[in-house]
Amino acid sequence: MYWQGKQMPASNSESIFSHLEESSAWQALKIHQQQVQHLKISDQFSTDPERFNKLSLQVSGLLFDYSKHLITPETIRLLISLAEQAGITEAINAMFEGKLINNTEQRPALHVALRSPASSTTQEQAVHATLDKMQSFVQKVQSKEWTGFDGQAIRDVVNIGIGGSDLGPAMVYAGLSAFHTPGIRCHFVSNVDPSHLQQTLTELNPATTLFVIASKTFSTLETLQNAHRARSWLLAAAKKEIHLARHFVAISSNIDKAIAFGIDKQQIFPLWDWVGGRYSLWSAIGLPIALGTGMDNFRELLAGAHAMDEHFRNSPLDKNMPLLMALLAIWYLNFFKAETQVCLPYIQNLHLFPAYLQQLDMESLGKSVHKDGSPQRLDTGGLIWGSTGTNGQHSFHQLLHQGTHLVPADFIASVCSSTADIDQHQHLLANCFAQSQALMQGRSLTEVKADLAAQGMDNDEIERLAPHKVIVGNKPSSTIMLQALSPYNLGSLIAAYEHKIYAQSVILDINAFDQWGVELGKVLSSKLYQAISSDGFCDRFDASSNGLINYSKAKNQS
Ligand code: F6P
Repeated sequence: MYWQGKQMPASNSESIFSHLEESSAWQALKIHQQQVQHLKISDQFSTDPERFNKLSLQVSGLLFDYSKHLITPETIRLLISLAEQAGITEAINAMFEGKLINNTEQRPALHVALRSPASSTTQEQAVHATLDKMQSFVQKVQSKEWTGFDGQAIRDVVNIGIGGSDLGPAMVYAGLSAFHTPGIRCHFVSNVDPSHLQQTLTELNPATTLFVIASKTFSTLETLQNAHRARSWLLAAAKKEIHLARHFVAISSNIDKAIAFGIDKQQIFPLWDWVGGRYSLWSAIGLPIALGTGMDNFRELLAGAHAMDEHFRNSPLDKNMPLLMALLAIWYLNFFKAETQVCLPYIQNLHLFPAYLQQLDMESLGKSVHKDGSPQRLDTGGLIWGSTGTNGQHSFHQLLHQGTHLVPADFIASVCSSTADIDQHQHLLANCFAQSQALMQGRSLTEVKADLAAQGMDNDEIERLAPHKVIVGNKPSSTIMLQALSPYNLGSLIAAYEHKIYAQSVILDINAFDQWGVELGKVLSSKLYQAISSDGFCDRFDASSNGLINYSKAKNQS
């Protein structure tokens, strides 16, 4: 628990426990789950006409509807009590106060400072100085004062980064398509697969291309490989090294390495160790967003996130959107063994949102030890997946409706379209609402049989076909409605998920801000690279790895 090893809050004094599942709140939830597991969600609406009003809330440009869940008001009361027993209020304060909540790296996780309008702390002052530096650079590029090596204005910005240095900016840039700056296009290259960079560069003119090398550590293999290739491509056209300064900027907390790569010191935008990679789109890592949509829109994005920060910090727990999202995730993951959660944006411009959320949620919550290193006995984070609606309806929704898994869904939709086509947007919304309704209502055997009979089908055929057409229903979902897909509302939405993840990590007592699991693959890949790129038969590893390496070598030579 957050308070483990410290003096426990007096109000929780009757709930001394060393594991969450031993807490009185967890025990009460276990008993409660037995009572509600067969509850029909649709019946809850008939018995309580106020259910939607009670189980929905509006926060900074968003409506959060969590009424279509396998919950009663008592479930919420018990879940809130669980959060209280886990010390959620103290933990929220600890994050905002810059305490070392990333305990394995002895750092704060202060992404909230990146969107704070205040300038009182040293972190906030550094943030505002960097925002000013970004503003000045963006202004120069957009006004065409900043030119490439032959005097032409910049037309294409290529962000080279991966993970948090790619997914956030790429998702937001795509999300804000309606706000794109005319004359500037942003591209995102992440994969070490050489075709990613090559295909991107094929269409571009070196004289009008600006590379943004985004890497917190400036030591990530994929990014450095691609950055070196990009440098060669530019140099082949510009001829002189001196011209590179017009075409390369970097964002990093490792200024020395960025300089060693050849970036002009003036063109390095700082990042700090108290910003986690997957929480960094609000920092200078968001430079492509600012270049591609304008600094005013970038600041609006920050303002929306800040509004959600204020909500998370100050709202009563039972009206706290990110906390409720976290509690619902824990409820299904641990009490219903629903291991996956599907993210369904019914907004084409948010097509990268599920991929972005995968890193944010799974890299943060994919942990199996407590903060003190003891083994975790509960499920910590779900498997996040999904894609845009309506496309998913013609693909994997079949499994959501009739498969054997319970998959809680997050629908995300926008009241207004980013186009003028109101009618087609209404079709989109109707489909979104229809899916959550269908998941909840299902179609009973009696209804199916009655339908088939009404179509004039004979009894034998009805008996044969009916079981295949039954949809059990009672599948839970939340719907988040944005007033419009504006920078402000998108900032709010992203921050809601960030805080959902933190709240979940606090309750499960894990560190959401480290990612040691990704290191092993990096170490092994460098050893395997040696083997793949050198001559001779490989017998240094396990038989499968040796076999794969030798097969690749043999086939490459043949
Ligand atoms: O490999 C995982 C990771 O460390 C992510 O957490 C991070 O967002 C990504 O790599 C990129 O790291 P960097 O910004 O240091 O290149």
